[in-house]
Amino acid sequence: MIVIKLGGSVITDKRTEGKIRKRIIDRLIWEIKKSGEKFSIVHGAGSFGHIPAERYQLHRGLKERSQLEGFHLTHHSVRLLNSEVMKVLLKYHIPSVSISPLCFIEMRDRRIESIDLSKFDKALSMGLTPVSFGDVVFDSKRGFSICSGDDIVLHLALHFKPDKVVFIMDEDGIFDRDPKKYRNAKFLKDVRVDELPSAEKSSYIDVTGGMRKKIDIIKRIANDGIDVYVVNGNKIGRVYGVLTGKKVKRTRVIGC
Ligand code: IPE
Repeated sequence: MIVIKLGGSVITDKRTEGKIRKRIIDRLIWEIKKSGEKFSIVHGAGSFGHIPAERYQLHRGLKERSQLEGFHLTHHSVRLLNSEVMKVLLKYHIPSVSISPLCFIEMRDRRIESIDLSKFDKALSMGLTPVSFGDVVFDSKRGFSICSGDDIVLHLALHFKPDKVVFIMDEDGIFDRDPKKYRNAKFLKDVRVDELPSAEKSSYIDVTGGMRKKIDIIKRIANDGIDVYVVNGNKIGRVYGVLTGKKVKRTRVIGC
């Protein structure tokens, strides 16, 4: 089984609220289908989640009642994005089930306190592809928190020990510095965990910690012995290549 994270920066236009990139989603799911593998899919929220969550300051937890509307709006918006992803999975005959983080995760002070992966277990053993996503969830200390899709990927990886974990992003892979800021950033092809940089904050609005947190999660997965790939979803054929072990541009963080 392979755990795939469809980054919000690829499947949405991260700068425009609620703007979906339907053609990209369609092609990515087609590449996934063509690979013939078995998957768990987690997708990000992109502009469907980060922008309303930032507007209502949801990452600060429940401070005032007006944020409840933001909670409702963010969850609703992320569900809309999820239903688009589910529609494309249906189109390509990949029987899937959407599993909402609100129903299987509880946080405490922004950290996952409890997570119940039994529905993923059931789905996978039946041949269904489980699909989850970054969303707002309840937090026993703060009222609510934002749970990023990357956190879900981490727990799926540690629990299911997949053959590999693939992060589909809007970059060719991992660089030694933020390539959006530094033109001479060096591309990392095959790296060990100790060779990974400590990333700078992402330049886009990102209420879940940006690249810094992602690299931290990648390190934890690779330290558990699982290979982690970071690949550009905007480039045709790269996701298919990574899934089927072909030679394409990507970063591989070697599991150790
Ligand atoms: C963010 O999830 C969830 C919300 C902002 C509600 P992710 O952190 O997984 O989303 P992307 O991939 O960065 O867009």
